[in-house]
Amino acid sequence: METITYQIKERNEEIKLPENLGFGKYFTDHIFEMDYTVDSGWHNPTIKPLADISMHPATMFIHYGQAIFEGLKAFKTVNGEVVLFRPDQHIKRLNNSAKRVCIPPVDEDFLLEALKELVNIEHNWIPAKKGESLYIRPFVYGSNPFLGVSPAKTYKLIILLSPVGAYYSEGFKPVKILVQDEYVRAVRKGLGECKTPANYAASLLAGEEAKAKGFTQVLWLDAVAQKNIEEVGTMNIFINMKGEIVTPKLNGGILPGITRKTVIQLLKEWDMNIVEREISIDEVTKKYDSGDLFGIFGTGTAAVISAVGWLSFKEKNMTINGGDAGELAVKLFDEITSIQYGLKDDTHGWIYKVEKKEVEVS
Ligand SMILES: Cc1ncc(COP(=O)(O)O)c(C=O)c1O
Repeated sequence: METITYQIKERNEEIKLPENLGFGKYFTDHIFEMDYTVDSGWHNPTIKPLADISMHPATMFIHYGQAIFEGLKAFKTVNGEVVLFRPDQHIKRLNNSAKRVCIPPVDEDFLLEALKELVNIEHNWIPAKKGESLYIRPFVYGSNPFLGVSPAKTYKLIILLSPVGAYYSEGFKPVKILVQDEYVRAVRKGLGECKTPANYAASLLAGEEAKAKGFTQVLWLDAVAQKNIEEVGTMNIFINMKGEIVTPKLNGGILPGITRKTVIQLLKEWDMNIVEREISIDEVTKKYDSGDLFGIFGTGTAAVISAVGWLSFKEKNMTINGGDAGELAVKLFDEITSIQYGLKDDTHGWIYKVEKKEVEVS
């Protein structure tokens, strides 16, 4: 792979981040970009100022959805270091998604370097308060103009950065969830295990209808029998029950979350009985009725841990753990965020440091 070209613009003013960052509203002023052609493979890696993309109206991904993305975070630690959380895993998942929709794979080591370079250049954009971070959004799309269903001939990969606020600025807040049996998100052997825009498009109507009924998000059931639970909103799900903590086994319809993997490893280290298996919504309601259901929580990069306080399925309304997050969800949240912000040593190799280097302004 070629070396990265830098087109860095001079900054005359200090970066002033807004007080209330929210999520996905603000962007740093540079991106990483590279191109793919059949003859040259991935080439022309460049870090350049953020600008609008101009494209032909027949650009293939707009019509046929051949696109993939990732979402990971950079943090400023309490010691002022800049770190990434498990970027290797996110890059690996990007390549898994690529394979499923016929996008050419990227060199994983090179992409990691590119990520670090971009984050280094934009490190002044990383907010320093605990809970805040720099969200990193790599994405790839089929970029040549053509009408007709087939894989594109050229691709573009872009990394976009967005400083984001604390998910729980007012404390850890359990959410209200509706079990969805009207629509499905993704189907086994379909696109469920890859991060491609189609899955998110498929989820919108259910999400909007749930919100109109006063719920935060939906719990997705499997797309075949509508029996087993799969994910909650855009998070993986864990059920804390008497004798075991269960998370649905990966089955091709579920996104293999990096936070899910992290939580499973921590629970094993804490000698808790974490089981990956099928779990039906009927089993969950039965455990609730018998008093053996202690907690439900989702896991994902954005919120880390999100406790489910209320769950509704058909006519049944369940209050989980009295609407309280529960000890286990809070403990996992504290453990993972402490590692991310450098309050606890990383003994797992999850943290990747970004060395601060000076880069010449062009
Ligand atoms: C559908 C879906 N499930 C699960 C997750 C959680 O994955 P991760 O922990 O890697 O952020 C995400 C977020 O990326 C998602 O979009």
